[in-house]
Amino acid sequence: MLSIEKYQQEFIAFLKAYSTEKEPKNLYEPISYILRLGGKRLRPVLTLMTADVFDGNYKEALNTALSVEVFHNFSLVHDDIMDDAPLRRGQQTVHEKWDVNTGILSGDAMLIMAYQLFEYYEPETFQALAKLFSKTALEVCEGQQYDVDFETRNDVTIPEYLKMIEYKTAVLVGAAMKMGAIVADASVEDQNSIYEFGKNLGIAFQLQDDYLDAFGDPKTFGKQVGGDIIENKKTYLYLKALEFSSDEDKIKLTDLFSTAPKDSETKVDVAKKIFVDSGASDATKQAIADYTSLAFSGLESLNISEEKKALLKAFGTNLMNRTV
Ligand code: IPE
Ligand code: IPE
Ligand code: MG
Ligand code: MG
Ligand code: MG
Repeated sequence: MLSIEKYQQEFIAFLKAYSTEKEPKNLYEPISYILRLGGKRLRPVLTLMTADVFDGNYKEALNTALSVEVFHNFSLVHDDIMDDAPLRRGQQTVHEKWDVNTGILSGDAMLIMAYQLFEYYEPETFQALAKLFSKTALEVCEGQQYDVDFETRNDVTIPEYLKMIEYKTAVLVGAAMKMGAIVADASVEDQNSIYEFGKNLGIAFQLQDDYLDAFGDPKTFGKQVGGDIIENKKTYLYLKALEFSSDEDKIKLTDLFSTAPKDSETKVDVAKKIFVDSGASDATKQAIADYTSLAFSGLESLNISEEKKALLKAFGTNLMNRTV
């Protein structure tokens, strides 16, 4: 096994060599832009690590890792259009720097490129990867649709929310790991266990994403702080705040989240105060810790060395403590 940093470096070197500079420029430049903007690269690192965890060769998983990252970046380009987001990784979003049509088509091309990267593999592996990829990609679309539908609903429940984030975010983290296991020819049982680990980590990850969207430091977060509040997103913070607040704050919050999306400092400040005062922000932190532990407990049944388990746990702990 390599260190987490080393997997990251190996992945970035592979990404650098991946050529996206073609004609027409207005299709490919936004693709190079978003792929090279940085980001944590957590999904591709998980793919590479998992290939090694199951005694494969991480180098054989580089195409899969890149596929996962290209797909992830495609989903971000379209997500930023849907969320009307101005900032991504501290820079302008694709639809702001170019325009919405460019974001749509460059995103579409990236989805195809993600599939194309599987052509490197022999038919059996190719099929297993493509099958998992298709299932996952459709689930991401379903999750994204729920997320948008919830913006205009005021009766969203916690189980509905959890299903939404499982689909829009967690299944891709699970799939990133399972794909590494597929490349390494791991048993179906191990493939499924690592998928569950990734999925639970992914749920914790999205809860943390929601938390940081409200409470992240604008100087380092890289996205518009308060964006979810502006867009009336029914996050865990919001749902728990509704559950915990006084009748008066409940009405205040429901009214606040029923107005047309607008960039208002007051709206963000009022909502954040209710999130803190109601105990919703603490409950969110607790849920992040709970889903991370749930992921860790699933590792116990895996037939891998303690050293490998420790590396996977270190990855999870880092994620839980992140600020971007
Ligand atoms: C952002 O993902 C979208 C979510 C699923 C929350 P990341 O937080 O992994 O974004 P980057 O790739 O590091 O920028
Ligand atoms: C995004 O969820 C999930 C996908 C991109 C599929 P968010 O909308 O919360 O992600 P960010 O916060 O914009 O990165
Ligand atoms: Mg978004
Ligand atoms: Mg979104
Ligand atoms: Mg978010």
